[in-house]
Order: sequence, then C-alpha cells, then structure tokens
Amino acid sequence: MLTLILAEAELERIPQEIHSHPAVISNAKQRQRKPSKILLDASFHHSAMRKKLSEWRRRGRPDITHIFLLVTLDSIANKKGEVKIIVHTRNNEAIYIHPETRLIRHYPRFIGLMEQLFEKKSIETEDKILLKLEEDKKIEDIVEEINVDRIIGFSTKGRRINLLEYFQSLREDGYKDIACIVGGFPSGDYHCNLGKIADDVISIYDDMLSAWTIASEITVNYENIFLCSQ
Ligand SMILES: C[S@@+](CC[C@H](N)C(=O)[O-])C[C@H]1O[C@@H](n2cnc3c(N)ncnc32)[C@H](O)[C@@H]1O
Repeated sequence: MLTLILAEAELERIPQEIHSHPAVISNAKQRQRKPSKILLDASFHHSAMRKKLSEWRRRGRPDITHIFLLVTLDSIANKKGEVKIIVHTRNNEAIYIHPETRLIRHYPRFIGLMEQLFEKKSIETEDKILLKLEEDKKIEDIVEEINVDRIIGFSTKGRRINLLEYFQSLREDGYKDIACIVGGFPSGDYHCNLGKIADDVISIYDDMLSAWTIASEITVNYENIFLCSQ
C-alpha cells in the first residue's frame, strides 16, 4: 500500500486579519457568503494578502491540492486499490480522501466542495464518507496513525536518487507499506522538521517540480515496481 501525504497544503479559510479588506468583502458579496466561510485563494485575495498576511507569497493555493488529488485519484495504483491519500493543511487539519472519490474537475466547484468540508467536517454519500476533516493533526500524528514500514520525504534538498531504482531497492529490502510526503506549498520550505519525521528525504530531479508532478512520478513508479504483476 502507498500512502500519499500532501503536507502543509496551502488550504485554509480566509483568516480573520483580512476579513474587512475591500477585495475580500467584494469577493464574499459576489459569492453571497461570509468572508469567514470562504477559502483563501491568492488569485482573488492577493491584494489583501500582501498587506496583512505573514507568508503571503505561499498562501492561498487550493489549486495545488485540487490538481494533486485529480492526479492521484486517477492513477492506476489508486484504481488498483493500493493508494491512501491524506491532505495535511498549514493549520494542522487532516483531510482523509476515500479512494473511490470522483473528484469534481471544475475548479470553482472544487472550492465550493472544500468550503462545505471545512464547515461540515465530512462529505458523505449514502454508503461512504468521501472526505473527512479532522482538526489538530500534525504531520507527526498522521505518520504515527498510518503505521507504515517506511516514510519517505520528498524535497529538493533531499539526497538525489533515481526513483525507479529507489523503489526497486525498497522492494528488495522487503518494504511493502510506504508513505510519501510531498509539500503542498508553492515556494519556501517545510515548516516541520522533515528529516526527523521521515526515514529518508530524497530529491528525484535537479530542479524544483510541482507537487502534482512529484505525485505522478510516485504513483507511476510505485505501480511499476510494487504492483506490476497485479
Ligand atoms: C513546488 S515544491 C515546494 C517548493 C520548495 N521550495 C522546494 O524546493 O521543494 C512542492 C513539493 O514538491 C516536492 N518536490 C519538488 N521538486 C522536487 C524534487 N526535485 N525532488 C523531490 N521532491 C520535489 C517537494 O515535496 C516540495 O515540497
């Protein structure tokens, strides 16, 4: 089983500091919602963010989570039932994604779904919990509860490896249940001490890639090495 953790994802509701900014009020009016119930999105709230929010350059990026989820849920490894996906947010919420979730493609509707999730804490059908949000979950807590053989952190600062060969050697060493941590932020570094949380921190290319490209490399290589006979 492969567990994918999108860590410190820039997914949050509009913080109180900018509720009264004109750009936020106008966006909230347009959407007929309260500012406190809307997701922070740099493409709409940029002018408010740059004035009052710490780390404004990296915040308000639900698009990263959206594309990451589309790529991972649609992967062959997930279709084979071998992937668990968890999104950890900058405010230490954990979002557990049911592997059979057919995620909305249309970005504005995805935003609406996430806002509903932040409000209700779960999105359910008649027989399944598709999305579940739990508060006060640090990456360390998530890693502890999933209980896997090997935790691998992905970072441009990690040890440079070839991912196919790396998974091959994990398989030869008898590891089956692995977790991969990928940063859900556009720039800057992890807030957590990744080297302490993960058993290994690796880089798979000499340049920075997007979180969803890393996710796609992980799922494809995992499938080729661990699931090819299934
Ligand atoms: C856009 S990057 C975040 C920016 C950060 N400055 C960095 O260099 O990693 C998003 C995430 O993708 C992963 N990532 C990006 N490039 C990578 C690489 N060459 N090797 C391994 N992981 C990478 C990391 O998990 C990173 O946190």
